[in-house]
This record gives sequence, C-alpha cells and structure tokens, in this order.
Amino acid sequence: MKNSCWTMEKIEKIIKINRRKPEKEKIEAAAQIIKKGGIVVFPTETVYGIGASAFNERAIKRLYKIKGRPLDNPSIIHIARKKDIYDIADISKKDKEIIEKLVKKFWPGPLTLVVKNKKIPAAATAGLDTVAVRMPANKIALELIKRSGPIAAPSANISGKPSGTSIEMLKELAEKVDLIINGGESKIGLESTVFDIRTKKILRPGKISPEQLSKILKEKVTKIKKILKKPRSPGMKYKHYSPDAKVIVLFGSKNKIEKFIEKMINKKFRIGAILLKKIKIKDEKVNIKFVKNLDDYAKNLFKFFRKFDEMKCDVIICEGVKEKGIGHAIMDRFKKASEKLIKLK
Ligand code: TXA
Ligand code: MG
Repeated sequence: MKNSCWTMEKIEKIIKINRRKPEKEKIEAAAQIIKKGGIVVFPTETVYGIGASAFNERAIKRLYKIKGRPLDNPSIIHIARKKDIYDIADISKKDKEIIEKLVKKFWPGPLTLVVKNKKIPAAATAGLDTVAVRMPANKIALELIKRSGPIAAPSANISGKPSGTSIEMLKELAEKVDLIINGGESKIGLESTVFDIRTKKILRPGKISPEQLSKILKEKVTKIKKILKKPRSPGMKYKHYSPDAKVIVLFGSKNKIEKFIEKMINKKFRIGAILLKKIKIKDEKVNIKFVKNLDDYAKNLFKFFRKFDEMKCDVIICEGVKEKGIGHAIMDRFKKASEKLIKLK
C-alpha cells in the first residue's frame, strides 16, 4: 500500500488555498479558528508554521504540547503590517533607526527581529523580556494574520525534526491540529534569519545573509558564537533539523566524494546523498539527489532528509558548501543535524 494511512484528500481539515490569490472565505474560516483559540498550520515563504493567537496562552501551551517543544524555547510572532512591531514591542529611539532600515529593505521577508517585549504573554516568549517578530512574505500568511491578529508560530514539525516545507511533510501534525492550509511548496525551504537588535548579532542564519545585513547597517554583522552556557537564542541549545539517518557532510573533489561513497557502499550501508557535483555512481544502495545551486539546495534540503528517512537510509551524505550568502544557513543546519564534517584530502 502506497503511503498507507496518509490520504490527504480524505482529511477534511486540510484546505487548499491559492497562494497568488487566496480565497477570502477560506482565509476567513482559518482566521476564525485562530481567534477562537484553535491551531492552524499555514504556509510562509521559508517553511510552514504551526500557529496560535499570540495572545492566547492556553492555545500556545497546547501548540507546544503538539510539537513536543520545550516550554523555554520562545516562538516567533508573525505580523501582517510593518508598523505592528511597535504595538507589541517596546522600541527605543536608537533601535527604531535600525529597525526602520531593516524593515524597509527586508519586510515582508525571511528576517526575524528580536526586540524588547511589551505585550506578548510569557507562554509565547518563554518568559524572556524580548520577543522575536517577523512579517512573512506569503499572501496566505499575511491575509490570515490580518484577519486573526498576530500569530505565534514555530516551524511546523515535531520538535528536533526538519521543518515542513510542504504538507506531505506534516503527517505527524495532521491529527492534532485544527486546520492545515495547503499553500504549496515553501519557496525558500530554510527558516528565517533571526537577528538580535540589541547586540546586532545573528542568532540563527537564514536566507538574509550576514553580508546583506552588514551592507544595510553599514557595519560588520556576524553570527553569534556556538552554544553558550546561557544561550541568547534558547533554541540554540536543542537538537535541531535532524533526520533519523546519520548525516555526514563532505568537502572535496568530485573524485574524492565518489571514492568515499563507494567505500560506504562496500560497508553495506543504505545511502542517500545530496550533491552539487555531478558524480557518476550507479548502485541500488545509493540514491543521489543533485541540486543546481545553493538556493535549490536550501529549498530541497528538508524534503530530501525526509525522503531518505522514509527510504530507511542509514546515512545521508551532503556536500558541504561555502559559508557565503545562504551558504551560512545551509552549513548551520548541517552543523546541527550532522555527526561529522569531513574534509577529504
Ligand atoms: O522562518 C521561520 O522563522 C519559521 C516560520 C514559520 O516563520 N519559524 C521558525 O520558528 O523557524 P522556530 O520556533 O522553529 O524558530 C524560532 C527561533 C528559535 O531558535 C527560537 O529560540 C528563536 O527563534 N527565538 C524566538 N524568540 C526569541 C527571543 N526572544 N530571543 C532569542 N531567540 C528567540
Ligand atoms: Mg523550528
């Protein structure tokens, strides 16, 4: 039986919405669910979010339970108008200048700003005095939030697993939430860049790169150093984005990568590989997905992780990339998901 009990058409709580021209009555129905304290999975340009009203602590607690998310990991608050950040956050004159520059350039889009909290309840912020805010670049998300008010939404996945970038990846959540909006495949495929306005550090790399932020702010913006005792971004201390298979990240020439994979085949491993270089290996033990460029890599990474898990691969071999542009975000996810980064000599 193909894909056993997961027949999407049969589950009424999944509705398909046109992402170019969202049907108003469908969006309104979804917004009503949020307003009444329900939980809705919705698309954004980065990954799918699992959302509840940012002001409903009970709904947020239920959401955390569904995801299996630790309560001390705060959620991003999604807004539909740029100016709404001033409503939910306490912003100094100095910070306002920085925010205005960033928001003008990058919103709506994959940039989350960590600012001082004013109004968001502790269930969503994990009791921190800060709050993470983002305006997504997805018509369905924006229409939904306009009608429901701000939405607290972590990525749609069981905690620790790769985020969902299409509804085929949301099986585990389907039974537990009140509605899933199918808005097609996520355009970017990796989560937003999280940027702390106070320290001007990147807490989580995403599509908006350190280079882009540095250019707009006219100063060098860097990523926060790895795992601190008391992490500034609470999510940093948890295991993330991990498929069940062991992930190995390789750097090296076409020839060396080929040799490495051949060795793994001899060890009788079932292998999934995601590569930029067009190597030529044909063996039933290895399934290779080639990606065209870094954006294509980002877009498909979590989908391929999931596919390889479904195929019961033992190892997933990924070609490492340069930490430049979206390469920072790809390597960040690798460092969190993988056991080994290998430079083939
Ligand atoms: O693209 C995205 O950001 C997606 C879509 C749905 O918008 N959302 C997402 O949410 O990835 P989540 O919860 O999986 O990741 C949010 C990250 C976590 O690492 C969390 O620790 C961090 O943002 N974060 C949230 N609030 C924070 C705060 N006040 N200070 C520091 N980090 C915060
Ligand atoms: Mg997440």
